[in-house]
Amino acid sequence: MLTNKNKFINPPISPGDPDLIWETFHENSKVSMFDIPPSDHEVLARMADLAESFSYDGFPIVELPESPAPLAISLSDAITNRSTTKQMLAAPLNLLTVKTLLHYGYGITHDQRSLGFPRAFRAAPSGGALYPLEIYFHSSHTDGFPSGLYHYNPLENHLRLIRDGDQSDIIAQALVSQTIAHEASLIIFITAVFDRSTFKYGDRGYRFVLLEAGHVAQNINLTALGLGLGSINLGGYYDRKIDDYLDLDGLTHSTIYMIAIGKDARVSDASG
Ligand SMILES: Cc1cc2nc3c(=O)[nH]c(=O)nc-3n(C[C@H](O)[C@H](O)[C@H](O)COP(=O)(O)O)c2cc1C
Repeated sequence: MLTNKNKFINPPISPGDPDLIWETFHENSKVSMFDIPPSDHEVLARMADLAESFSYDGFPIVELPESPAPLAISLSDAITNRSTTKQMLAAPLNLLTVKTLLHYGYGITHDQRSLGFPRAFRAAPSGGALYPLEIYFHSSHTDGFPSGLYHYNPLENHLRLIRDGDQSDIIAQALVSQTIAHEASLIIFITAVFDRSTFKYGDRGYRFVLLEAGHVAQNINLTALGLGLGSINLGGYYDRKIDDYLDLDGLTHSTIYMIAIGKDARVSDASG
């Protein structure tokens, strides 16, 4: 119930501005009591048609270590000490470090598909357990595996090498802060296959996809810290250039977040 006190704290109701796309989107992606969600049967049928993770069949496989490295940092220390790395150095990273970052980011933590759950559960939460995200990364500072652009398949616990060689110059051209491409050990691309969420949640599914990328990024940020590495989350990239580079159509499947990982210049003993 409104009291006189909070009545005055609440700001006046805005008339809205139809020219603001975000306002229009926010208003139109609100849940209404009159929405009719798809039935469980329809959801399960659609999930069966959608890939749980892209397979990139035919591209060279790089197997990941079975288990991630344990992180020798408490959660309270990780949260307290997390910060965006100011100065990053491109130290070579080995497959165990890559596995650890990807696994704690968006890897499979428990799998009850044999009990009828349609998806394996991941390290990050997902609206309806629909897992609309895919993870790619580029590295030209590798230790024990080829440089190049990779796709991560958590179901198979392997990478697929999509394009080999150092592509840092191409990535730099697609970044607002170009130098990060050369200073990072790893550039991670979080992409979204929007329909995996929007088929069920409509426009609100678009919100969920972006929220979920934030969960994954935070997992990776904290994991990097636990490995003695630094990270920079990147929203400053030219979408079309990055999507072209990853060979995504940019509409049904597009890059929604990037993370640079490297040795934090302030930390002397980065792992990898
Ligand atoms: C959505 C988002 C996008 C960001 N994009 C960039 C970026 O493009 N370049 C960059 O240097 N930092 C970027 N950052 C990092 C912020 O600048 C940083 O989080 C902020 O200054 C707060 O500092 P802290 O992370 O050390 O707490 C981004 C952070 C977020 C959450």
